[in-house]
Amino acid sequence: MLASAEERDVRTMLLGTQRINAQGRLEVGGCDTVELAQQFGTPLYVLDEECFRANCRAYQQAFAVRCPGTVISYAGKALMNLAVCRIADQEGLGLDVVSAGELHTALQAGFPTERLLFHGANKSREELEMVIAHRVGRVVLDSLEEIVALQELAAARGAVVEALLRVSPGVTADTHYHIQTGKTDTKFGFSMVGGAGEEAVARVMATPNIALRGFHCHIGSQILDLEPFEQAGRLMVDFAADMREATGLEVQDLDIGGGLGVRYLPEQQPPSVEQFAEALVKAITLRCQERNLPRPRLLLEPGRSLVGEAGLTLYRVGIVKEIAGLRTYVTVDGSLADNPRPALYGARYDAIVANKAAQPRTRKVTVSGRSCETDTLIVDLHTPEITAGDVLAVQTTGAYNYAMASNYNRFSRPAMALVASGRAEVIVERESLQDLVRMDRVPERLRR
Ligand code: LLP
Repeated sequence: MLASAEERDVRTMLLGTQRINAQGRLEVGGCDTVELAQQFGTPLYVLDEECFRANCRAYQQAFAVRCPGTVISYAGKALMNLAVCRIADQEGLGLDVVSAGELHTALQAGFPTERLLFHGANKSREELEMVIAHRVGRVVLDSLEEIVALQELAAARGAVVEALLRVSPGVTADTHYHIQTGKTDTKFGFSMVGGAGEEAVARVMATPNIALRGFHCHIGSQILDLEPFEQAGRLMVDFAADMREATGLEVQDLDIGGGLGVRYLPEQQPPSVEQFAEALVKAITLRCQERNLPRPRLLLEPGRSLVGEAGLTLYRVGIVKEIAGLRTYVTVDGSLADNPRPALYGARYDAIVANKAAQPRTRKVTVSGRSCETDTLIVDLHTPEITAGDVLAVQTTGAYNYAMASNYNRFSRPAMALVASGRAEVIVERESLQDLVRMDRVPERLRR
């Protein structure tokens, strides 16, 4: 029997290992999402292990065949916890960390420190000390002050720290203003133009305890065209060649950052990792030939494109309110506390009513959260008849959801379940009410 148009719609939305099972429910990693919601409670972050691993392999494969030796480092800021670090390690990826907290997580997970990269726009002395003490593989230098501080700390310990210098290539990617990070007008790194980059290179080269291995850039996030990456790649090669001429520096590494977009809505078609690798490697290789520069080792730091589509969030539907002639509000038991992206970036999401995944989507509703403001999660979502108790599965929440969650309204942060081959395991516990007051202190004079 032919599927109705609405059914086909739902099938085009499926990502990773998702499918609709014989009960007409959404399944992921071989687990029925309605049962997951029952077993672990809602809201629940669900991570599709096979999808995450497949993305890791696709990246490594796509670059290995076109540019052997390329290092793919997972950008932990997208989603980080101990289990995710373990998977990244098993897949042989590097790991990009940006704070003492992320570094501590990686260390606790037993992640090999030589495969770590440490970033940050304003690193503390404590963080630089951790970088030295744990022999982190590469530190990405972001300011002149940091070069001075790192040299001093490394010299005191007799260590030599391997570093990349972050430069801004002046590329404006077509993405949200908050996540355009490669423009000239930016707080990040050193501008390639106007001499700031060259001055920084000279400074680092004069420090005996910092070994400059190359350059880093990151032009932004959720980028859906390839052109800005190609442009950044060419500019990075030009900068490396210019610096070799000006200072004699042999550039070993070129790190192009992360930024490849993912599919939030069915109509979005991000380039495949193969297309991305093809375009980037070609642009870099050609420019290296033109500039007579031996092609440096390529480094990449994808976050969202490794983990974004591997995550979904399960919510329980609560109040359904019809504003006559206007709109139907469906309120779920989550909020901008577990997904702040619509509120912060105007991000758009799609969702499936998990327990009615095979039913025709005849209604149009607006999904909102339960916080004390208008926290619309999805405008005009097509659903079947929807009522309290249904389970709503919001797609593509693997990146920057759990990572950016807060306790706004003193909501407990949700649990996270890892699913694979019909098995579901908690990798982050749900916060308890007691957890919410655990860090609070009451001065003596206020006690009762
Ligand atoms: N490397 C560096 C230096 C970065 O700053 C970032 C992201 C990445 C790699 C990974 O980028 P990705 O492949 O995930 O696009 N909270 C925002 C995204 C901020 C991205 C910040 N930097 C959001 O929810 O859209």
